[in-house]
Amino acid sequence: MTSPLKKIKTRIHHSSEEYAVEVRNTLSKLPNLSAKFEYLTANRQFRVDQKKPEFMALLNKIESRKPKRILEIGGRRGGSALMFSIAAAGQSELVSMDIKTSPRKLKNLKLLCADHEVDFWEADSHSDETVQRLSDHLAGEKIDFMFIDGDHSYEGAKQDFIQFAPFVSDGGLIGLHDIQLDFTTRFKVNTNCWTGGVPEFWKEIKSVGFDTEELISDPYQDGYGIGTVRWSATDDTKKLEQLSALKPS
Ligand SMILES: C[S@@+](CC[C@H](N)C(=O)[O-])C[C@H]1O[C@@H](n2cnc3c(N)ncnc32)[C@H](O)[C@@H]1O
Repeated sequence: MTSPLKKIKTRIHHSSEEYAVEVRNTLSKLPNLSAKFEYLTANRQFRVDQKKPEFMALLNKIESRKPKRILEIGGRRGGSALMFSIAAAGQSELVSMDIKTSPRKLKNLKLLCADHEVDFWEADSHSDETVQRLSDHLAGEKIDFMFIDGDHSYEGAKQDFIQFAPFVSDGGLIGLHDIQLDFTTRFKVNTNCWTGGVPEFWKEIKSVGFDTEELISDPYQDGYGIGTVRWSATDDTKKLEQLSALKPS
């Protein structure tokens, strides 16, 4: 059994700059995306919170598309942002925003991702200031891959999609996490999983005819699931208007 003192020492070490560098070095020894994913899934500090088959399917798409610019909404511990950047083989500039972070966390994430062009922002995706910041940052360029995994309320996820889709390049990819109903909503069985209003919003996306694909490991899983939309700048602006007009059933 680990002593309480050792536990405290480990916790302090895990929030240190040395540890961020240690994790970066360990990742560089692992041979591929699959092994790096396993390692980050088990890592409390920089954890990636995703189901492996569906996230690997998404990473494979990123690997073949080599997006130049990536936006993640809801970066949390930074693991998913780093995996996207590794999949893009260092070809991308990535912005990962989260409403809740700290200067120490931002510093450690920067160290973790020092071999990649990843910028972690403390930002509320729903504020006008963030939209302006992104617009200034892009300076007229477009995003080639966007991952929405922030506010999971129906209104929040919908606002993220409607607000940021116009920043996506023609033919670019949008991923939406947690499209699968959680057990509480589906079977009235309470678990720790909460997918909020994302499944409802995903139904709307499909109903207006976007070019979609579902990455779901198991139809009986509790939550998770990734929906992708292939964004068409010419056809989809109209669909955004239709989407805005829809109300939850
Ligand atoms: C489910 S976690 C993200 C998990 C991460 N993408 C991963 O795969 O490991 C959702 C994150 O979104 C953040 N979030 C919630 N609302 C947000 C908002 N309006 N703007 C930016 N981030 C938000 C939360 O603070 C939380 O860290």
